[in-house]
Amino acid sequence: MALDVETKVQQDYAEELKAKFRAHTAVVAVAGIGYVGLPLAVEKAKVGFPVIGLDRNEERVAMVKRGENYIRDVKGEELKKVVLDGKLRTSTDFSELGNADVVIICVPTPLTVHREPDLQYIENVTGEIAKHLHPGQLISLESTTYPGTTEEVILPKLATTGLEVGKDFFLVHSPERVDPGNKRYTTQNTNKLVGGVTQACTDVATAFYGETIIKVIKCSSPAIAEMAKVFENTYRAVNIALVNEMALLCDRMGISVWEMLDAAFTKPFGIQPFYPGPGVGGHCIPVDPFYLSWKAREYDFPTRFIELAGETNLQMPGYVVDRVVRILERRGKCIARAQILALGVAYKRDTADTRESPALKVLSLLLARGANVYYHDPFVPRLVLRVEGLGDVRLHSIPLEDCAIKQADLALILTDHSSVDYDSVIRASRAIFDTRNATGHIGTSTDNVVML
Ligand SMILES: NC(=O)c1ccc[n+]([C@@H]2O[C@H](COP(=O)([O-])OP(=O)(O)OC[C@H]3O[C@@H](n4cnc5c(N)ncnc54)[C@H](O)[C@@H]3O)[C@@H](O)[C@H]2O)c1
Repeated sequence: MALDVETKVQQDYAEELKAKFRAHTAVVAVAGIGYVGLPLAVEKAKVGFPVIGLDRNEERVAMVKRGENYIRDVKGEELKKVVLDGKLRTSTDFSELGNADVVIICVPTPLTVHREPDLQYIENVTGEIAKHLHPGQLISLESTTYPGTTEEVILPKLATTGLEVGKDFFLVHSPERVDPGNKRYTTQNTNKLVGGVTQACTDVATAFYGETIIKVIKCSSPAIAEMAKVFENTYRAVNIALVNEMALLCDRMGISVWEMLDAAFTKPFGIQPFYPGPGVGGHCIPVDPFYLSWKAREYDFPTRFIELAGETNLQMPGYVVDRVVRILERRGKCIARAQILALGVAYKRDTADTRESPALKVLSLLLARGANVYYHDPFVPRLVLRVEGLGDVRLHSIPLEDCAIKQADLALILTDHSSVDYDSVIRASRAIFDTRNATGHIGTSTDNVVML
């Protein structure tokens, strides 16, 4: 008899939630409205869900309230509309969680100074959720993290409320796989993984995500979804390291790494394109693999590929600076007092994100060696660089005018933003060092271009 009652209660909460998802009436709270959370909040609000964006950053909360956008992947008009329609509200008051049917966690997961997982943001937000947890709530962790976080860090905190997972509330890991700037694959058409603590958790979350995402894939546990996400980013880190190592070897052997890769990638199977560059950046590739290697230590397991890929990618900014010195010396110039115009400082084409950007490291190293550095980036108006011996150096993006290009001893392409007119840069430059193959389409007839 008792079992019957329990089963009925469980059915009720799950079915009640699913009915709200179908009607798009479930109140969705997004904790952390950054690169991941804001697009997600707008997407859910666009289809009619009442969404509340919660953040500790008062400026971001105020900007959304005014209908102002700060994330490039979000369309400004769409943001304005959902705010005006009252579908998207923002707040710094976490008691709003008490009204939410769904809570999506999109807070940062950086590394500490000792390069270990910094879970303070997840722990903090979980504490807030626990204060307001109520029966019939779905909690989904979308932040990237090591396998075990959902069940070892979040679940125990939520369980202190006395509510039972899979029965009273539902907990899943569903990693965000967004690729900022990617026009072809958006949140909607990128397959979504869902791994619940129980089958009921997975089913409830699948019903939720299925309302806005074309394909939702069920995993048998949160750990599978967590591991899959960190594996995806480790795969990228390792393959980028491999092509970076090839770039160094090709330079030594006098072979064009770009032509070699173009030739290799003509094979229609068994190989995938990855390209070298000045290093890796962003919130994911330089960070996530180290979440996995940290966890692996608990199992006495050395993750040698991760360490090697990390080392290889980390040496790239220093290598780029060595090449700059060589190029200048061949032209009778010394690095100290050379005028260097950097093109692009964001970590990735057509984004404004400078987190962990290797370009910042390259510029800091050039400044430390006495070069006069200025930059152009259509997405990054200002920069503060920490430079050895000089402290904080503030720079601002200059307009890309012929006189600025001509004045430089070297134009250094660090990010291949698509809005830059590289033909004009080539015409006006004395010399160019292209670390991204941004000028590759123009051909090899120009002798003022040196490729990575
Ligand atoms: N940026 C990407 O391309 C990307 C892609 C996939 C996954 N991820 C993962 O998504 C997560 C979020 O990354 P992001 O790039 O959106 O970070 P972000 O820094 O752009 O945004 C995080 C937001 O969380 C807020 N925040 C911090 N602590 C909070 C708290 N206790 N409560 C509420 N809000 C809080 C911050 O103020 C910030 O606005 C990370 O785990 C990241 O690895 C990022």
